[in-house]
Amino acid sequence: MNYKIALIKGDGIGPEVVGEAVKVMDAIGEKFGHKFEYVDILMGGCAIDAVGKSYPEGTAEKCKECDAVLLGAVGGPKWGHSTDPDKRPETALLSIRKDLGLYANLRPAALRPALAESCPLKNDKNIDLMIVRELTGGVYFGKKDRYQTEDRGEEASDLMAYSEKEIERIGRRGFELARLRGKKLASVDKANVLETSRLWRQVMHRLAEEYPDVQYEDVLVDNAAMQLVRAPGQFDVVVTENMFGDILSDEASMITGSIGLLPSASIGDTAPGLYEPIHGSAPDIAGQDKANPIATILSVAMMFRYSFDLPAEAQAIEDAVDAVLNEGWRTADIAKPGETAVGTLKMGELIREKL
Ligand code: IPM
Ligand code: MG
Repeated sequence: MNYKIALIKGDGIGPEVVGEAVKVMDAIGEKFGHKFEYVDILMGGCAIDAVGKSYPEGTAEKCKECDAVLLGAVGGPKWGHSTDPDKRPETALLSIRKDLGLYANLRPAALRPALAESCPLKNDKNIDLMIVRELTGGVYFGKKDRYQTEDRGEEASDLMAYSEKEIERIGRRGFELARLRGKKLASVDKANVLETSRLWRQVMHRLAEEYPDVQYEDVLVDNAAMQLVRAPGQFDVVVTENMFGDILSDEASMITGSIGLLPSASIGDTAPGLYEPIHGSAPDIAGQDKANPIATILSVAMMFRYSFDLPAEAQAIEDAVDAVLNEGWRTADIAKPGETAVGTLKMGELIREKL
């Protein structure tokens, strides 16, 4: 098969990690007989520098001509302070999610067997959960306001709204994924306080009846935060709204001891989906051949699995990564004191050799 892939290399270490992921895709192409064509797309801080806005006109249209999008990382302190939305890299991220209809954000947090010792929760070695975060609704996209009051000074407000339809489509994603994995679904909300959460829960309970084979539970978000560090092995799929998912997925990533290893997928009802490492642009190590390319390489595995329905190709990548880690190879972020670390290029090469 032929696939056309949009590459948003972005800022900081983005170009380096995407570079290694592209070489892995080409190796898979050769092994399994696929052809990958790439289209470079300018977005993020580099786009602010080049054309004055983080999300240049036509970005979404160019992505829509592709079968999937691979993103490195966008942002950095250089562009951190502008109040002009066009000059903020985050604007580009939120816009592309909305414009491509990527309402479901899959963020797995799995402890790789070779790295069990770097997990701060050494007693729970079976950490393999997936957070399904609603990505195009809630407080991120509700009406934002700033106004003067008569007696309380300036006031700001961010509206959190969710429709039944929005909840149902992400809820279904959660149940469907649970079916493909460990058949357990935890739905995280704040139904003791928020009306959006009460509607969320109502819809989830209705869906739960359609999926009797999935073991379902409601978990309040504060309890979920606690359970994630207490006993993360209890979770399989966790479905939740946009902001809770943002926060809990960062927490979940850290319990694997290795944020540089975690991929993510953002998908909607139609192509293209967008795949990216969950780490940021790490400007402090950019351009020094130090970044860990594994999260981006595993994002390609997710792309093969969820966008192209190529599970064997995805598995080949994941097995190659585990084989290299099992042999003891480490990049600086996951090396223990005393262990020697290899650079971005070498790590990419080792993984390709296993293919
Ligand atoms: C993420 C990031 C973004 C978000 C920021 C950079 C806008 O934290 O992808 O989790 O909050 O969604
Ligand atoms: Mg985040």
